[in-house]
Amino acid sequence: MAKLEILTYPDERLKQESVPVEVFDEELRGFLADLEETMRAGPGGVGIAAPQVGRFARIVLVDCSVTRKPVPNHGFMVLINPEITEWDGMKVGREGCMSVPDYTGNVIRAERITFSAFDGDGVRHEYQCEGFEARAVQHECDHLDGMLFLDRLVSRRNDLFRRKVYQK
Ligand code: NI
Repeated sequence: MAKLEILTYPDERLKQESVPVEVFDEELRGFLADLEETMRAGPGGVGIAAPQVGRFARIVLVDCSVTRKPVPNHGFMVLINPEITEWDGMKVGREGCMSVPDYTGNVIRAERITFSAFDGDGVRHEYQCEGFEARAVQHECDHLDGMLFLDRLVSRRNDLFRRKVYQK
């Protein structure tokens, strides 16, 4: 396994749209292992998307079991070609991103979502998530469409905060 380099804002490549994964092979699973290592090495890393390391494929990883405060979660999820099909409720919450290391910001997200995604073996699963985990999935899926939380701030003037220390 190898830790991969993270692209950071304002790198233009972060605006690129990622393409669906069509081949589920050993090369893909090797990449998933590297991506997981990269996520776990980051401060507060509860999620990562492949385009953040320069691979423009529709792959995200989420693991909300590692947060300080316990939240409802599915543990470690490999989400390939994820598709959110239902959104319910709206809530403002604070988000950070490994590609925007110096800031956090307030973003409105759905409180509950239903989505499907393939795992590393090409098997499709359906999920329902809520709260912090639903927020993480929505945040990571945005990366696949070239969006950062900076693009969704409630207010650019009042809802962007400079980080003092990293918290996990
Ligand atoms: Ni992010």
